[in-house]
Amino acid sequence: MNYSVKNDQPNSHPFTCTIIAILTGSKLSPSAQALNKASHQQLQKLIKTSGFRGELGQTLMLYHVPNLKTERILLVGCGDPKKLTESKFRAMNLKMACALRDSNTKDALSYLTEVDVNKRDTTWKVQQSIECIEECLYRFDELKSEKNSKKSPLTKIAFYNDENISNAKINKAISQTKAICSGMQLTKDLGNLPGNICTPTYLAKQAKNIAKHYPAIKTTILEEAQMKKLGMGALLSVAQGSDQPAKLICMQYHGAKATQKPVALVGKGVTFDSGGISLKPGEAMDEMKYDMCGAGTVFGTMKAIAELKLPINVVGVIAASENLPGGSATKPGDIVKTMSGQTIEILNTDAEGRLVLSDAITYSKKFKPTMIIDIATLTGAMVIALGHEACGVFTNHDPLAKNLVNAGQQSWDRSWQMPMWEDYQPLLDSNFADMANIGGRWGGSITAACFLSRFAGEIPWAHLDIAGVAWKSGKEKGATGRPVPLLTQFLIDQCKK
Ligand code: BES
Ligand code: MN
Ligand code: ZN
Repeated sequence: MNYSVKNDQPNSHPFTCTIIAILTGSKLSPSAQALNKASHQQLQKLIKTSGFRGELGQTLMLYHVPNLKTERILLVGCGDPKKLTESKFRAMNLKMACALRDSNTKDALSYLTEVDVNKRDTTWKVQQSIECIEECLYRFDELKSEKNSKKSPLTKIAFYNDENISNAKINKAISQTKAICSGMQLTKDLGNLPGNICTPTYLAKQAKNIAKHYPAIKTTILEEAQMKKLGMGALLSVAQGSDQPAKLICMQYHGAKATQKPVALVGKGVTFDSGGISLKPGEAMDEMKYDMCGAGTVFGTMKAIAELKLPINVVGVIAASENLPGGSATKPGDIVKTMSGQTIEILNTDAEGRLVLSDAITYSKKFKPTMIIDIATLTGAMVIALGHEACGVFTNHDPLAKNLVNAGQQSWDRSWQMPMWEDYQPLLDSNFADMANIGGRWGGSITAACFLSRFAGEIPWAHLDIAGVAWKSGKEKGATGRPVPLLTQFLIDQCKK
């Protein structure tokens, strides 16, 4: 998609479609006013006749409004202008994008940037608009016989800028958002692929491909034999019930000088989580193909920062494995030794994410990172706690959590800090090993994070539990590409420090 910024007035541009906001209970927005005037009041008349009231998310396409140059006008309702929040702005942009898609519009100029959204500037509104458009146009049909059905002819979208901010600044934001969206697309594609295609081996291959495409990225893969040598007993215990070999994938992005220490991103890449011997119930078990979305997020974020050529060093470490029952699968009660030397009593084989991450986090320390951020669809309890709106942030270093939460607030890919008081730690006590891999029914996301904290040690570390935000269920089932916007924004902010 070609995105650009324009300063043209509503009736003096070459675009097929003009997108304008209609607010409830108030006068027309400036661009609507201008168009109305140019149409000799015909626009307002049509709006009235059609009964369009400007309610949030309502859309209406008008064709050939008398006296106007533009072929079509897309009216987008944004409700009460005093109540227009960030989420509502996104909602109306999603509807706008769907209306463009469904009307087979080829190109458009959007004046939705005119509306006031909680003091957000034009740059923010343009960025969010683009994300909504990409979200709406995304299709995953590579496994359908009929591909590209209903493909939208939309190729060009411009955004109106009243020049309070320079066009150059907005153009920079557009490139940034395009990079984020291409990262999200990769994350979505990997997430949506089924477990029989997206195996640990497949992920390793994709990591090699990324390195081929971006010279700043170097990929290395550790095989099971090497993991065994390194003593990664926890990671290997998860893989041992499966015929698919586990892979430890390292992607090193070099955007700054070699002496600069990297940020480590560690992703949970369980390509299918059946629960293992502690088998999950059958209902919706297919959704456990999404249990590699933490890894998918690392892929997407690496792609975004490589596109942007961010001046930073980042190492992505992915623990990729299946979690299946079988003759050689780990049994409840088994005790394994991690690369860190600590031992774990595996009381529930379905708490496997923390097992693979424990060794991946330990391994990531070899790169001497300034901080470690792990990303994982770790607990169902996270979905209970925060639903699908925000991911949970857990940390041993509050300033890091603050920066992550701020990046989420800025990118509107929100997160929320959860407590990690020492009082939760004893819940992991085991009679037979250094710790158990579960902490009981209550505060399940927190005890999972407490478990991980034991492997991060003293390094500033944060854990993002993305179980609620990584994919949608139901009719709209699919990966969301979150939290690529949050993490990319975080790394962009990091470069400014
Ligand atoms: N991958 C799941 C977490 C999950 C469950 C994410 C449902 C999204 C939706 C994870 O491996 C898991 O099974 N966790 C268990 C932990 C429990 C056994 C302590 C859970 O949350 O039930
Ligand atoms: Mn599990
Ligand atoms: Zn899992």
